Amino acid sequence: MTTTSIPRPILGAGAAALEVSPIGFGCMALTHIYGGGVADDAARATLDAAIDAGITLLDTADVYGEPRAGHRGGPAGTNEEMLAPLLARRRDDVQLATKFGITGLSVAAPNAGGEVPRTAGNSTDGRPEYARRAVEASLARLGVETIDLYYLHRPDPTVPIEETVGAMAELVAQGKVRRLGLSEVTADELRRAHAVHPITAVQSEWSLWSRDVEAHILPACAELGVGFVPYSPLGRGFLTGTLTREAVAKDFRGGTARMGAAWDANQAALAVVKEVAGEIPQVCGASGASAGQGSATQSQVALAWLKAKGHRFGVATVPIPGSRRAARMVENLAGAAIDLTDDQIARLDTVAGLVTGTRNINDNPQWISSGRE
Ligand SMILES: NC(=O)c1ccc[n+]([C@@H]2O[C@H](COP(=O)([O-])OP(=O)(O)OC[C@H]3O[C@@H](n4cnc5c(N)ncnc54)[C@H](OP(=O)(O)O)[C@@H]3O)[C@@H](O)[C@H]2O)c1
Repeated sequence: MTTTSIPRPILGAGAAALEVSPIGFGCMALTHIYGGGVADDAARATLDAAIDAGITLLDTADVYGEPRAGHRGGPAGTNEEMLAPLLARRRDDVQLATKFGITGLSVAAPNAGGEVPRTAGNSTDGRPEYARRAVEASLARLGVETIDLYYLHRPDPTVPIEETVGAMAELVAQGKVRRLGLSEVTADELRRAHAVHPITAVQSEWSLWSRDVEAHILPACAELGVGFVPYSPLGRGFLTGTLTREAVAKDFRGGTARMGAAWDANQAALAVVKEVAGEIPQVCGASGASAGQGSATQSQVALAWLKAKGHRFGVATVPIPGSRRAARMVENLAGAAIDLTDDQIARLDTVAGLVTGTRNINDNPQWISSGRE
C-alpha cells in the first residue's frame, strides 16, 4: 500500500463529519517546547513537504508558540501566526484545526540550577464571551475566514460545558468555524456537550504508554459516533527510541515523572516496541534508524498500534504526531499503512504496564480527563 492509498478516516457524523488524512500534523513542536522550535520559514517548509506527502490535517492552538517580547498574558498566538503565510497559499489543501480555552500555560525551561520545575498555575477560560473573542483572535492570526475544527482546549471548571459549547455552536451558525471538538473531556462532559451540538472529535493523549482514555471516553466516542484524535501519540518523542536522557533534560520533559527519575526504568517498555519494529519489514519513508536498518521504526509501530486500537474500539482515529523534520513526518505517515498482527498488538498492549509515572505534566490532577472521572 502506498501512502496515498491509505484510507482517509472520517471524524464525526452527519453535518459534523470531517474527512482527514490518516495522520495529522501536530504543529506545537514546530515553534517551541521540545528542544526548541525552528524558524518560521523552516517550519513552513516542513509543513509544505508533509502536505505534499498527504498529511492534510493541521493541528494548532492559540496558546502554542513562544510569546513575543512585551506580550501581556493570554495565548501567545505565535504558532497560529507562523501558519498564516502557508494558509494564504494552501488553505484549500488542508483541514485546519485550532483550539481555545487555555489562557495561561506554564511549561517551564530548566532554571539556573539545571532543574526543570513542574508545570503549575495553568488557567482556563470557557466563558461564552471569551469564546467569541478567542475565535476572532485566531481567525485574524491565521488569516482565514473559517476554521474547519474548533476545539475547546480544556473545560473550564467554573463554567458548565453546555454554556461553552452553546457559544461555540453560535460560531458554527455564524460560519466562523465549521465543526466542534473537545480536548481532555470526560465521557460525561462529552455527552453533555454533544447534546448541545454534535461534536466531531475528542482530542486527548492516547498512546502505547497513556491508555486511561480507553476506560470511559473511547467507548463514549464509539457510542456517539465521535472521532478521536490522539495527541502526543509518540509519547512526546520517548516511544520513538531516538531520545537521550541528556536531550530531554534540556526541556520540560526532563522534569516529568516518566522522562525524569523513571527514565532508566522505562527503557524496558521501549524494548517491547523495538522488538516488534524489528519484525516488520521497512515501509516507505522509513529510515530504519530507530529499529535497525531494513525494518519499520518504533515511531511507525506506535502509530500502527493506535490505528489497530481505533478499529477495535470502532472509533475513527487520527493521531497527530509532530516533528521539525519533514522526513520524519513522511516516515510517520507510512506507519499508517502497517497492519500489526494480533500477537504484535498483544505484546504492545503490555507496554503501558511496564511504565513508571503518570502522563500528567501538570501538578493539578484534574488537568487531564482521567483526573476528573
Ligand atoms: N490537546 C492537548 O492538550 C495537546 C497536548 C499536547 C499535544 N497536543 C497536540 O499533539 C501534537 C503532537 O504531540 P507532541 O508534539 O506532544 O508529541 P509526539 O507527537 O508524541 O512527539 C513529538 C516528538 O517526537 C519526535 N518525532 C516525531 N516523529 C518522529 C520520528 N519519526 N522519529 C523520531 N522522532 C520523532 C519529534 O522530534 P523532532 O522534532 O526532533 O523530530 C518531537 O519532539 C502537538 O503538536 C499538538 O498539536 C495537544
